[in-house]
Amino acid sequence: MLQKFLSRTRDQLSENILKSIGNSNFVEEAMLYSALGNSKMIRASLVIASGKINEDVADESLLSLATAIELMHTYSLIHDDLPSMDDDDLRRGQDSNHIKFGEANAILAGDALQTLAYEVICDEKSIEPKYRIEAIKMISNACGKNGMVYGQYLDINTEKEKINKKLIEDIHKLKTGKLIECAVMLGQIGNEDQYVIEHLANFSKKVGLAFQITDDILEVTSSKEILGKSTNSDRKNCKATYTNVLGLEESIKESKKLTQSAIQDVEAIELEDADLLIELAKYITYRER
Ligand code: IPE
Ligand code: IPE
Ligand code: MG
Ligand code: MG
Repeated sequence: MLQKFLSRTRDQLSENILKSIGNSNFVEEAMLYSALGNSKMIRASLVIASGKINEDVADESLLSLATAIELMHTYSLIHDDLPSMDDDDLRRGQDSNHIKFGEANAILAGDALQTLAYEVICDEKSIEPKYRIEAIKMISNACGKNGMVYGQYLDINTEKEKINKKLIEDIHKLKTGKLIECAVMLGQIGNEDQYVIEHLANFSKKVGLAFQITDDILEVTSSKEILGKSTNSDRKNCKATYTNVLGLEESIKESKKLTQSAIQDVEAIELEDADLLIELAKYITYRER
């Protein structure tokens, strides 16, 4: 069930991303190159899976919200790979954007992906205007100066010697967790059921953190060929990661524990269509790439 859902989501999203970006100039070419790279599209899948338990949202609304999230995510990866950030040459199994198009153009492609994410939501007529504003607000909160961007700042500027469990947890929640939380909550746009919202908020925080712990784990247990990105990045940059703060075994335990607890949050909602979210939570922790 999950594999089919993931592959259908990837197909739908790729088509919509292509349509949203267009292909008429060099900036759009650079945007498409990364946005249509080999992504797992987990965040889009979370938007859609969450939306399945929200009767107040239409399928086309979910598609646009999922597209916006993936555009935002791709922008963050292009900038994350820049020489002044993680300095990584490989992303999604191909040359990083700045290797292919040059550093200045990669910065611009990232900038344009970010603004396009907001435009896609502004243009989605199936979402009531007040919920369009709410969605834009949710994304800007998740990604801005108190969210992903601050997480990236801490990730780059925190000295490895000063790191402890609390700090690495905060960094991961911000740089990666916030956008994942946002993906799950965007699927609930228009829903007034506070019980569901509360449980999904807890679920999304836990899977958001588990996602980045797994990213750290895979960097030491997997290969460049499988991941489609460097497995030497954190070491090269002397980054603090979960695995070097807690050790590999403890990190694996932590990520499984979070997933188990996240699944319980969703089970408490007692909706049959919530199964997909449970499957996605397991996939996030047990994935191979
Ligand atoms: C990688 O995210 C960057 C992180 C925030 C850890 P993904 O592993 O979801 O990357 P893609 O979209 O599949 O390439
Ligand atoms: C990426 O974190 C987080 C964002 C892009 C916001 P990492 O730097 O740990 O992810 P990878 O390993 O390069 O994908
Ligand atoms: Mg990074
Ligand atoms: Mg990186």
